[in-house]
Amino acid sequence: MKFKRTLVTSALPYANGPVHIGHLAGVYIPSDIYTRYLRLKGEEVLHICGSDEHGVPITIKARKKGITPQQVVDEYHSIIKKSFAEFGISFDIYSRTSSAIHSEVASEFFRKLYDEGKFVTQESEQYYDPEAKSFLADRYIKGTCPKCGNPDAYGDQCEKCGSTLSPDELIDPKSTLSGSAPVKRKTKHWYLPLNEYEPWLREWILEQHKEWKTNVYGQCKSWLDGGLQPRAVTRDLDWGVPVPVEGAEGKVLYVWFDAPIGYISNTKELLPDSWEKWWKDPETRLVHFIGKDNIVFHCIVFPSMLKAHGGYILPDNVPSNEFLNLEGDKISTSRNWAVWLNEYLEDFPGEQDVLRYVLCANAPETKDNDFTWKDFQQRNNSELVAIFGNFVNRAVVLTGKYFDGKVPADLKPEAIDKETLSELQPLRESIEKNLDNFHFREALKDAMNIARLGNKYISDSEPWKVAKTDLDRTASILRTCLEICANLAVAFEPFTPFSTEKLRRMLRLENLKWDDLGKTDLLEEGHSLGEAVLLFRKIEDAEVEAQVSKLKAAKAANEAAAKEAAAKDAAARVEPQKDEISFDDFSRMDIRLARVLAAERVPKTDKLLKLTIDTGIDQRTIVSGIAEFYSPEEMVGREICILANLAPRVIRGIESRGMILMAKQGDGTMRLVAPTGELTPGSVIG
Ligand code: 2FM
Ligand code: ZN
Repeated sequence: MKFKRTLVTSALPYANGPVHIGHLAGVYIPSDIYTRYLRLKGEEVLHICGSDEHGVPITIKARKKGITPQQVVDEYHSIIKKSFAEFGISFDIYSRTSSAIHSEVASEFFRKLYDEGKFVTQESEQYYDPEAKSFLADRYIKGTCPKCGNPDAYGDQCEKCGSTLSPDELIDPKSTLSGSAPVKRKTKHWYLPLNEYEPWLREWILEQHKEWKTNVYGQCKSWLDGGLQPRAVTRDLDWGVPVPVEGAEGKVLYVWFDAPIGYISNTKELLPDSWEKWWKDPETRLVHFIGKDNIVFHCIVFPSMLKAHGGYILPDNVPSNEFLNLEGDKISTSRNWAVWLNEYLEDFPGEQDVLRYVLCANAPETKDNDFTWKDFQQRNNSELVAIFGNFVNRAVVLTGKYFDGKVPADLKPEAIDKETLSELQPLRESIEKNLDNFHFREALKDAMNIARLGNKYISDSEPWKVAKTDLDRTASILRTCLEICANLAVAFEPFTPFSTEKLRRMLRLENLKWDDLGKTDLLEEGHSLGEAVLLFRKIEDAEVEAQVSKLKAAKAANEAAAKEAAAKDAAARVEPQKDEISFDDFSRMDIRLARVLAAERVPKTDKLLKLTIDTGIDQRTIVSGIAEFYSPEEMVGREICILANLAPRVIRGIESRGMILMAKQGDGTMRLVAPTGELTPGSVIG
């Protein structure tokens, strides 16, 4: 089908942290390239995005910070929006799902499905915190991991061993709201019966969309082959779009139900009078750019929602990327292993295009890929600087030098000029084919091949030498070079828009269109060029080394903080009370005050001290495992408490009579228990 217009959406990022290079490489660089390409072609296109502001992690972040979820999303929404703008990601609107219009659109959507009986309801048992009077999302439950013993595992995952868990599997689960043990309670939710859509989805995806990228098609197939189950579209939570139905108090729409509707509500916010043509006219082509963890929601759940609603178009393509790693390790927000966009711009101000270029050249299109600072430097220095920038600079500067900055006439053409220029058209065709098929890396290679062509041509033709004897020939060479420069200004626009803008200003060609790509008469004879500026600068070793050190330092600081927090947590852990005993049991214990007369280490042990004790009754020896916490010198002269009538034991060949009383905290640290004032050895405790 021939489409009239294209609606591009980019996954709505969660507003619970800033965006990093993984987000950019996976979703926003490709979607921006694609949109810019279509715009340059003069097509009717809209690019929609915004912040995804609901969901449990946002409420958790708010609790941690002691602020409201709205304050959390307000903060990150503006940080994210600013980063996207700074990197030239050219959305037509970047809005948010906490807006009133979104709430309205999402509620109406739900309500229509509800009224038409498209949902099924199910009662299920969910964990509930009776003290906080609240149902608990899995993340709100903590307990001991059954797999690795981590005492701080969450109800959905253990972050220590990486196991996916359910709250039922946790040992000794506790609510993080009140610390009390959660109980199971019945709750009712609305489900979208995905199973009913399965035959239709099989036909629509597996038969009609064989052209989708293999990673996307493959994931869909495996979901479909696994059989679809009804999916809950509501949650017991106090943050989100309220379920617009009587009897649903305290319930909100599941974030994955309302977020994709955000594409629709944001379009409606932008175009209150004409949004429907973008969502309901079959001549609109809908394309979702997403990361691979979003495939099921965009290919199976959201299309089923749209189908259930009726009247909406379905995605024509869902070009999802894989993940980007960083210096060989998974990007992780919690471990601070990431390059944050706001921080990048502090260190490389004005150099957005370098990152855009490298992230596209290395985009994880078919498999996970790695970003390294070395590669960043190398691609900048040996491609952007040495090929693209160098070529443009030579062409413009030499035109200034020999022709007063005016485009010279083609006075002595040679076959090599025509041959060189004739390579532009096939390169255009290749770029187009690649962009049309979402092969952005390949398209970028093609664009760089135009710069390579120019750079080789100027190096081989040596106009700076020719100028000494033949200015007419020099004119032809530079004319050819400038035509290639103009082509570069078009070809690179989707990829490196800041630099192509500079280039257009240098060429004083403001109105280039995609259709100009491949043409060889873009500059008129006598046309005055603008001032020559450098498009790119060399990046030094020290700069990238500093970035790697910064990453490592952030990671180390994070690990140290995590360790400290874990130690604090462990220290605060309190042993449960032991089984009840009678007073009689207690009174059989002879606990009394004693004084340490002498102390020495037990040879060949790390933990044991041999202590000579004055008990008031006698002098005796006690061997105690306290050497980790007290040195012999610290012990001598101290008043301590002992259990005097403990049966003697031989430890390392020494008879130990009694036990020193110590208080032990959650992390295993021990301290002596001692009286608050001077008392005579032998005083009985009880
Ligand atoms: O994975 C994510 O970051 C989600 N916030 C993406 C949502 S995309 C859309 F459905 F809104
Ligand atoms: Zn674990």
